[in-house]
Amino acid sequence: MSKTTLKNKIVLITGATSGIGKETARGLAKLDATIVCTTRDKLKGEKTRSELIASTNNEKIDMLYCDLASFESIKNCCKEFKSKYNKLHVLINNAGVWDFKRRESKDGIENIFATNYLGPFLMTNLLLDTLKNSSPARIINATSGLHYGTINFDDIEFKHNYSGVRAYRQSKLGLILFTRLLAKKLKETGATVNCYHPGLNITNLGRDAGRFSRLIFKSMGKDPKIGAETSIYLASSPDVENITGEYFVKKKIKKPSKESCDLNLANQLWAVSKKYLKNDI
Ligand SMILES: NC(=O)c1ccc[n+]([C@@H]2O[C@H](COP(=O)([O-])OP(=O)(O)OC[C@H]3O[C@@H](n4cnc5c(N)ncnc54)[C@H](OP(=O)(O)O)[C@@H]3O)[C@@H](O)[C@H]2O)c1
Repeated sequence: MSKTTLKNKIVLITGATSGIGKETARGLAKLDATIVCTTRDKLKGEKTRSELIASTNNEKIDMLYCDLASFESIKNCCKEFKSKYNKLHVLINNAGVWDFKRRESKDGIENIFATNYLGPFLMTNLLLDTLKNSSPARIINATSGLHYGTINFDDIEFKHNYSGVRAYRQSKLGLILFTRLLAKKLKETGATVNCYHPGLNITNLGRDAGRFSRLIFKSMGKDPKIGAETSIYLASSPDVENITGEYFVKKKIKKPSKESCDLNLANQLWAVSKKYLKNDI
């Protein structure tokens, strides 16, 4: 059987400086792709880039600055990407946070909603033209098994009764709703979009989510290489070339929660997201 190669393919991965994103970058670099990673910390980004090159012998690894908690930074990053590359074959929306303390993004929006949901929503929309022009192209969203519940439209930023768990769950439900609706919008364009749950992995996620969560990650989590297996599969396998709008766990399609299959909810969330982004998309 011939080995999958991503030679001449361009992959953009957000938050590739640690955990699952870094392992995904490493795995896809080994398949000879051109990897464009994003970092919010230039020094850490440069260190990661050197480490990835050394461990894969693939020199085609680039690092762009992007703070997903800032619309301005996302717009600048997409502009920079487009000035350097005219194709994008795989976009992996990986970056994510989980805070127990309520914080706000650079735009004054609750940070988990901004970083985990609105950031990928904006970035994907800004790169859609390039993705469509690179068809076949794939979009992969890192969501979570913790996506149960619904969208708290009355107080989407949890200004009252903030809970880090509920904010995180909502952001991941939002990403599944986004995946399912975007798949419909992208029909016949040659671009697919899927999402996945990487399982529990020992990474930096949850470092700000309290002692109990840290203990759970530490005692039950797996090596992020395991979590990255599904993102690498979704980015590279011919098996999923024509599959779109699905939720994957351990490289298999799984049914997510009832709410995440509700297209009315997805349309409602899309409309709210567009309001946040004003004239950006
Ligand atoms: N670990 C798990 O068990 C698990 C389970 C389900 C889903 N997930 C999801 O998997 C994805 C990867 O998480 P991980 O576990 O690998 O966590 P991680 O080790 O903390 O990595 C998260 C990455 O996102 C970046 N990031 C965070 N906030 C950012 C921002 N504002 N702008 C730009 N980049 C930002 C981080 O950058 P820095 O290096 O600068 O912090 C890091 O590169 C996340 O979406 C997470 O929700 C993880």
